[in-house]
Amino acid sequence: MTREYRVQPALRVSGTVRVPGDKSISHRSLMLSALADGISEVTGFLASEDCLATLNAMRALGVDIEQQSPTHVLIHGVGLHGLQAASHPLDMGNAGTAMRLATGLLAAQRFASQLIGDASLMKRPMERVAKPLREMGADVRTQGGTPPVDIGGGRSLHGIDYQMPVASAQVKSAILLAGLYADGPTSVTAPAVCRDHSERMLLACGVRVTTRGLCTTVEPPQRLMNQRLEVPGDFSSAAFFIIAGLLGAGPNGLEIHNVGMNPTRTGLLDILRSMGGSIEINNPRDSGAEPVADLVVHKSRLVGIEVPASLVPLAIDEFPVLFVAAACADGETLVSGAEELRVKESDRIAAMSAGFTALGVEHEVLADGMRIAGRPDGFAFGGGEIDSHGDHRVAMSFVVASLRAAEPLRVRDVANVATSFPGFVPLARSVGLDLAESS
Ligand code: S3P
Repeated sequence: MTREYRVQPALRVSGTVRVPGDKSISHRSLMLSALADGISEVTGFLASEDCLATLNAMRALGVDIEQQSPTHVLIHGVGLHGLQAASHPLDMGNAGTAMRLATGLLAAQRFASQLIGDASLMKRPMERVAKPLREMGADVRTQGGTPPVDIGGGRSLHGIDYQMPVASAQVKSAILLAGLYADGPTSVTAPAVCRDHSERMLLACGVRVTTRGLCTTVEPPQRLMNQRLEVPGDFSSAAFFIIAGLLGAGPNGLEIHNVGMNPTRTGLLDILRSMGGSIEINNPRDSGAEPVADLVVHKSRLVGIEVPASLVPLAIDEFPVLFVAAACADGETLVSGAEELRVKESDRIAAMSAGFTALGVEHEVLADGMRIAGRPDGFAFGGGEIDSHGDHRVAMSFVVASLRAAEPLRVRDVANVATSFPGFVPLARSVGLDLAESS
């Protein structure tokens, strides 16, 4: 049975929230800790369905992982060469990051593996990781480009110098993970800056990783050191509250504490500031290898802009909710160069366009983005039914739209919000959004 949100129009949001841990960092913390010597301790772990898929996969590969609480995890590292063959296909659920990173990791093992996922993941492109891994000498097969991914194992890998055609952190990370086992250095050059959590965590584990411009090189290590890691709040989850605050914060603003501020993730802040958004960044500090801060978001009158192409990879997961902000801005917003949105958990351009059509938002779909005509005064959205297409970020974006909606909204197919944001409903309610989940 599909679950849905019934959302009443809300007038304002206020208070302080802490969003759950970063999804990208949580996945990586399990994989790298599994390869380390000794026990690693991770706090602030994101206990979402996606990260639990990685946790179960690592357990199936012979790694002992204790969840002392949902967010406090102890990983008993087995060392670089200690993983064991799983007795069954590894089910990565909805998690593209889990599948792509695991493909890189497993391509270098002595044993064979098969990776599968849910209906959405089984349609997502995997040749983008399979191809460079084959260039390294790995035996990686897809079914016409999509999962299941079959990995032969038992191959010795050689270092490559790979020019990555898309700015994908998942592809880069998969190659770097395989590069840990290669016979020499492995380099990946990206067409644009994309998130660097793998590089930061590998360095923290004692691996030699260097970045020069857009080129990242890993040298195969003898061993990985165990880590003690506090995962920062996920900027991509904070994004829903950032936009909610801009659209409807009360006089004291909306506070979001302990947000990951890695500059390869915060392109949304640059975009929103050039739209006139007022966002204070307080108490900047480091949490291990990653910067964090507390944010105060003030209600702002936004203006439409042309989003600079260079910021697209730095805000790639935030476009659904940015589209909602653009629908409330004065003038037109143009997003282009964002064709990657078509191959996320859903085709996010199509899914947001269908929702906008249902709610009366004037917009034009482009092959690689969207042109959105904003309505800065009165209601930007009507009411009605929206289908999230099983995409967590589309579902949460339309909840934020309730701050400028004339009528109640029904957001269908929302169960997948649990893939990235457990506890979204009570947290959103705590700041004043009026939603209830039902089946
Ligand atoms: C991620 C990279 C991005 C992002 C995804 C998480 C990661 O995907 O959209 O949600 O953790 O490396 P791409 O690598 O496909 O851009």
